[in-house]
Amino acid sequence: MKRIAVFTSGGDAPGMNACIRAVVRSAHYFGLEVYGILKGYDGMIHGNLIEMDDRSVSNIIQRGGTILKSARSEEFRTMEGRKKAYENIKKFGIDGLVGIGGNGTFTGAEVFYNEFQIPCVGAPGTIDNDLYGTDFTIGYDTAVNTALSAIDRIRDTADAHERIFFIEVMGRDTGYIAVRSAIAGGAEMSVMPESKNSIKEVIQKLKHGTSQSKSSHIIIVAEGHEVGRAQSIADKVKKELPELDAKVTTLGHVQRGGAPTAADRVLASRLGLGAVEGLIKGKTNVMAGVINRTLCYTPFKDTITKKKPINKELIRIVEILNGRKYHNIERE
Ligand code: F6P
Repeated sequence: MKRIAVFTSGGDAPGMNACIRAVVRSAHYFGLEVYGILKGYDGMIHGNLIEMDDRSVSNIIQRGGTILKSARSEEFRTMEGRKKAYENIKKFGIDGLVGIGGNGTFTGAEVFYNEFQIPCVGAPGTIDNDLYGTDFTIGYDTAVNTALSAIDRIRDTADAHERIFFIEVMGRDTGYIAVRSAIAGGAEMSVMPESKNSIKEVIQKLKHGTSQSKSSHIIIVAEGHEVGRAQSIADKVKKELPELDAKVTTLGHVQRGGAPTAADRVLASRLGLGAVEGLIKGKTNVMAGVINRTLCYTPFKDTITKKKPINKELIRIVEILNGRKYHNIERE
């Protein structure tokens, strides 16, 4: 292997730049040339590749976003698009790829390998932390901390006005961001797919809280919860409990930006190096991850199809610390 290329794809995540830096510098350390592909798979299709030297990744470890830009490519889903991508990969003499992203990125890489045998090792870059094969994904810790600083601020005003706040966090169809930000933010409840909360349960919780003279509540809602988004939950609650002053804040894409935390920078550096070493050792169609503090490689097909369950202990912590008598509340 002489020349590799690195790309970021799917939703950006803080720490992607730190990972790009690690890929570029470790590849050079091992004597490989490195290209950066701009805008993920779209850049592959349109031949947007640039050679990267060590200086090209200076001063980026602390920056959110991705200097290589990102995209969710529709064209790469077609055989025609992938063929164009392959022709460019050959034209630039690329022997291996490092893809930084999530499910969609690894699905694309797997299909591409099966068709054209270009080896690819992945690094998990997504704020959602929803990938099997790593305890934490790059960007997750930063997103939780961003959500947390918003929750702390909202709590001040919730307390001053004695209001209920429903705060919606991202996470696609998982509650990873919800559960950690709820624990760290001392929220009264975390409504998320994994705990199967019902509207009835939310109402009971609020009734119980107000009966205990609790004047303000923070309820974290994971965007992917099947009972609905924060606004629709709040609307239903308001119908049942019109005396409560309920507000909704959707944190949205603020969770995707900002300087990565130290934990994300370290993880990204480790996984960038791990991905390059994996390629050099002849690995392909695997994601570098860290499980129990140990670097490991998990096949793409497992990272895509297997579910990483949320640690039940975390769900229990929210319930016990912030929901007195919560265990008496009925679930539907
Ligand atoms: O996967 C990261 C993520 O931010 C999810 O949490 C969210 O559901 C989705 O991407 C939003 O995607 P987009 O930026 O394309 O709207």
